[in-house]
Amino acid sequence: MHLSKTIIYNWLTTNDKTELIELWSLADRVRREGVGDAIHLRGLLEISNYCCRKCRYCGINGVNKKIERYRLTEEEILSGAKQAFRLGYGTVVLQGGEDYGISALWLSEIIKKIKAATPLAVTLSLGERSNSDLAAWKKAGADRYLLRFETSDKKLYNYIHPPLKYGDRGRSRIAILNELKELNYEVGSGIMVGIPGQTHESLVEDLQIFIAMDFDMIGIGPYLPHPDTFLGKKYSLDSQDLLNNELNAYKMIALTRILCPDINMPSTTALATANTKNGYALGLQRGANVIMPNLTPINYRSKYLIYPAKSCINQDLTNQHQNVIKMITDLKRTVGKGQGPRKK
Ligand code: 5AD
Repeated sequence: MHLSKTIIYNWLTTNDKTELIELWSLADRVRREGVGDAIHLRGLLEISNYCCRKCRYCGINGVNKKIERYRLTEEEILSGAKQAFRLGYGTVVLQGGEDYGISALWLSEIIKKIKAATPLAVTLSLGERSNSDLAAWKKAGADRYLLRFETSDKKLYNYIHPPLKYGDRGRSRIAILNELKELNYEVGSGIMVGIPGQTHESLVEDLQIFIAMDFDMIGIGPYLPHPDTFLGKKYSLDSQDLLNNELNAYKMIALTRILCPDINMPSTTALATANTKNGYALGLQRGANVIMPNLTPINYRSKYLIYPAKSCINQDLTNQHQNVIKMITDLKRTVGKGQGPRKK
């Protein structure tokens, strides 16, 4: 559905209850017509918290000395993937910091083994890797890649995401996302909502990029300050700001669905962290159709805190799985079967 920038801006800035109910129900209707009632489950494995980046929002940034670093072994990754399959999920997502200890070759072999042992789609989310690394992983059998552009506001992005080498910004994330498309990945991107300094105008532009880039998947979550980050130390968001981040994230999820009816969109862990009681369910009722349960072995989870108090860090697998299934049933939705690719 087309919406003018003015209309989008008005939705983003309204606090009128009736208007908001209208937005949620429109998004829910478009979601049902566009992707149906199935909720696809993607098993998330946080394979490494090493990161060479210094992102000012992210708790696993390379300059945070307070966390112990880990990288899963091949065996741990394979057993996580098999676990995802056993639980009936169609996809395993291998996410990590931008960790060059993960070599193209090492991960290629693991991808091949997952593809040989299971019918899972393999999604990667490993930062701004070189074109040849991305190509090698595609060749090994990877299906999808996730890389959020975080915000369309260039000045803000450059501020929160310092370059690898001083003065050298390398390829922009949009350029990398285009490379991923050329390599035939299903491509996911997205943003954080509520970064200090982010404006409603820039959120309108984020949505224009979603449309223009024709992403297959879009992940949107509220920004959550982490005390061991540059931004977390500089701006103490009060509870009102955090509430607004949550509300604005729902608004962006709803608008994204209305503008991009057939994409896959997760109800994110960040939403579930901002609102432990209802975040996941509200995301699913306001446009989302995917959940990414965390399959990272429990002893590593507390080391992968991109933001604090991350939801599910202590929940064991069975518990988490049962909660997700119960939520889906309560919402009168169904569990997605198969890999759950984007159907254009
Ligand atoms: N708050 C919310 N989201 C965050 N991410 C990283 N740090 C934070 C934070 N403090 C998100 C980014 C990144 C994704 C993996 O997690 O959008 O792309």
